[in-house]
Amino acid sequence: MSGTHRAIAAIKKQLGPKLCIMGHHYQNDAVVRHCDIVGDSLELARRVPDVDAAHIVFCGVYFMGESAALLTRPGQGVHLPDPDADCIMSRMSPAPLARKVLEQLSATGRKVLPLAYVNTTVALKAVVGEYGGAVCTSANAATMLRWALEQSDSVLFLPDKNLGENTANALGLDKSQRHVLRLCSRGLQDPAAPEQARKLLLWPGCCAIHARFKPQDVARMRAAHPGCRIIAHPECRQEVINACDGAGSTSFLIQEAARVAAATPSTPLVIGTENNLVHRLAKRHPDCRILSLGQALCPDMAKVTEEKLLQQLERIVNATAVPLEVPPALLAPARLSLTRMLDACARLP
Ligand code: 13P
Ligand code: SF4
Repeated sequence: MSGTHRAIAAIKKQLGPKLCIMGHHYQNDAVVRHCDIVGDSLELARRVPDVDAAHIVFCGVYFMGESAALLTRPGQGVHLPDPDADCIMSRMSPAPLARKVLEQLSATGRKVLPLAYVNTTVALKAVVGEYGGAVCTSANAATMLRWALEQSDSVLFLPDKNLGENTANALGLDKSQRHVLRLCSRGLQDPAAPEQARKLLLWPGCCAIHARFKPQDVARMRAAHPGCRIIAHPECRQEVINACDGAGSTSFLIQEAARVAAATPSTPLVIGTENNLVHRLAKRHPDCRILSLGQALCPDMAKVTEEKLLQQLERIVNATAVPLEVPPALLAPARLSLTRMLDACARLP
């Protein structure tokens, strides 16, 4: 055991139930081994309200810590080992621009409901909350898109165009009912464009890491590993997902790996997502051949290291840690967008 590992274990023992370390599946193994709770975005959000610890250390990117902070109780603080770890996609739908677009779309008198991927800033979540919308994650995007479609003329899905398209495909929403918005710094390039009356309006954002996978990667792996099963995260382009055998959140990919390893371990399993997770699954199931669809490392997830986790824990012990603060004016509307998701998912199939 390294000195860092030992020091973290000692602080965990010292703080006991006052500390809870949460981590996303994309964190590296040296960090994951210290986490009390590991999950995908949905599981982590769901678990926060039941955490009693005063100090929640969140190993993940900034928006995940912010979402946790929205769901904490008074007296609890959320800490990020590296506040510079920031999901690139979460910056692709700036709140003032999204507000402008919603104003323009609603000016026609149509009811346009925003549905925001959880990979967004708290300011964006607040705009969504104000407009009656909700958040979704990759694990519940289909449920939440159905929820939003049922109570609106159009849904504005943001910022991940790929997750939006893949979810619409899964629901069988015709392509003629979708439109990728054309934006400029003033909002919509053409506020009168007739395509903007379609059922699903997609913000033109994406995850640069998952967008790297191409349909050719799927074809290459099928040729190199005959009979393989290929699954991927729905942040990948729709051409990639359509060529795969299955798609779902990081938790789905983990469950699929366990299922294939138990049922048909001779089937090579190719996974298209962030490589830390794929490598962990390959180690966890050594009897099954688990391969990555290609190179995909999220540089921001990688900013969280075991050393930075230790430094953050030391600051908590020394009482010099500053918890993540959500601007008070954003708290209620942003929380509403998240609790609408948690409530809808508790009710709907
Ligand atoms: P999950 O919703 O599957 O946890 O994914 C979050 C994410 O950032 C994927 O890139
Ligand atoms: Fe954001 Fe993509 Fe990194 Fe996930 S993998 S945190 S979506 S940049």
